[in-house]
Amino acid sequence: MPLDINHIYQGDARQLLPEVPPASIACSVWSPPYHVGKNYEANATYEDWTGLLSEVIALHKPILKPGGFLVINIADILCFPDPALPRFQAVNLRRQKSPITREDVLAAKEAYPDYNRDQLAKLLGCSEQTIDRRLNGNNIRGGKYATQTRVHLVGGMLEEAGSRAGLPLYDRRVWVKDAAWENSKWHTLSYRAVDEFEYLYIFWKPGATVIDRDKLTPKEWTEWGSRAVWTFPSVRANDDHEAKFPLELPRRVIKLFSAPGDTVLDCFMGSGTTAVAAICEGRDYIGIELSPAYVELARNACRDAAYRFATHPPAPAAISQARPQQLRLLEQVNAYTEGRT
Ligand SMILES: C[S@@+](CC[C@H](N)C(=O)[O-])C[C@H]1O[C@@H](n2cnc3c(N)ncnc32)[C@H](O)[C@@H]1O
Repeated sequence: MPLDINHIYQGDARQLLPEVPPASIACSVWSPPYHVGKNYEANATYEDWTGLLSEVIALHKPILKPGGFLVINIADILCFPDPALPRFQAVNLRRQKSPITREDVLAAKEAYPDYNRDQLAKLLGCSEQTIDRRLNGNNIRGGKYATQTRVHLVGGMLEEAGSRAGLPLYDRRVWVKDAAWENSKWHTLSYRAVDEFEYLYIFWKPGATVIDRDKLTPKEWTEWGSRAVWTFPSVRANDDHEAKFPLELPRRVIKLFSAPGDTVLDCFMGSGTTAVAAICEGRDYIGIELSPAYVELARNACRDAAYRFATHPPAPAAISQARPQQLRLLEQVNAYTEGRT
């Protein structure tokens, strides 16, 4: 059964994307698992993850309209575990308050080989942490749990997957988000920068792309349409989903890379942000999400957005273009209300 517009489907993107009607999607925008240990990716190996992304990118070739776009929001992996690395060692001058030296600890260990860290600490009159630091050095590359980690760039892997699929990389932008100080405990123990930006990689399906310079106002072109760096806040309360992107991200992508009445796809739909942005911008959407709980969340978000859109029409200039969409959404709201979906 082909997937219908203005629905969120529960399932694996790899299984459901072949059901999207061919050449029907003007713009696909999504943020996949980042391979950073979130609950919804807990059991995936690095190979599973790259395999998932490559397969999903390849499945876009037939479903994108010629001239259409796939936009992937993703970040580099800042604490990529690599046990083959030498241990990173750092001496933090501010923290080196205890006079106990590594030689003291080694001598105590030799004299009392059965002592554990706690007993050695008591013997030497220092903290267990000092014993650990003198023996193992400080873990300057952080990661809260892993010791040997490095930065892993993901753009090259995506670019190659796009090329293999026949979707060349068309452009890239950077989203400057809130600085994640609280997730960056390592910054006091290293020279690393705090995590505060992500990427948008834009892939293009060869074909005629309509360039409509009137789709944004001159102010919008100057402020973000023509700009490589976008700055807006992250979602502050990830209380119902652990990795939402802000509405502004899919909203800008949708305005730039599709036209009113087009269909927008998100196959890692999460809490439904892309669908809500599509509704607000007068586009149809198709959503795919693996987790039944998130599907529920996304459907509720769409129902609320569709209700708002249907009852509070957009600005007068957009009304004529958005009218068919508005009528479809009204029908959708009625269907929800009557329990038909
Ligand atoms: C980074 S989150 C997307 C968040 C979304 N942009 C939002 O604003 O709520 C990635 C989502 O992909 C879903 N997911 C993971 N593997 C999937 C798969 N194979 N097929 C479909 N969805 C998947 C996860 O459950 C998660 O909700």
